[in-house]
Amino acid sequence: MKSITIDGKLFVSVCSADELIPEKGKKIIFDDDIDMEVSIFKIDDEYYCVSNICPHKHQPVIYNGIIKDCTVTCPAHGWTYDLKTGENTNKHQGIKRLKKYQIFEKDGDIYIEKPELEIPKWRQ
Ligand code: FES
Repeated sequence: MKSITIDGKLFVSVCSADELIPEKGKKIIFDDDIDMEVSIFKIDDEYYCVSNICPHKHQPVIYNGIIKDCTVTCPAHGWTYDLKTGENTNKHQGIKRLKKYQIFEKDGDIYIEKPELEIPKWRQ
């Protein structure tokens, strides 16, 4: 796995840019821990990387969500998140947001900020 450090932050190459299908998510798993899973998306030639775990009921399904206007809708119960900010677009559903990670393309490879493992309270 190729890696680059920028301003002290580690970015790892996770796939080639050609592997991303526009408006279809791709799941990336690190270290076999569910809280290290992220989803990456390509929409209108921009890349987005968010946690794959929906903060509603902690389902690892965001990669399989429905994309519309730069939002992703969780296929489990329909909560919708803005991919630019991670925020829930419907405040009536709550204020829990998807974690966001930096992502970029370099020389045909997709690099993302490697997530830090943080065990959420509900798993402790
Ligand atoms: S788990 Fe995603 S909306 Fe319920």
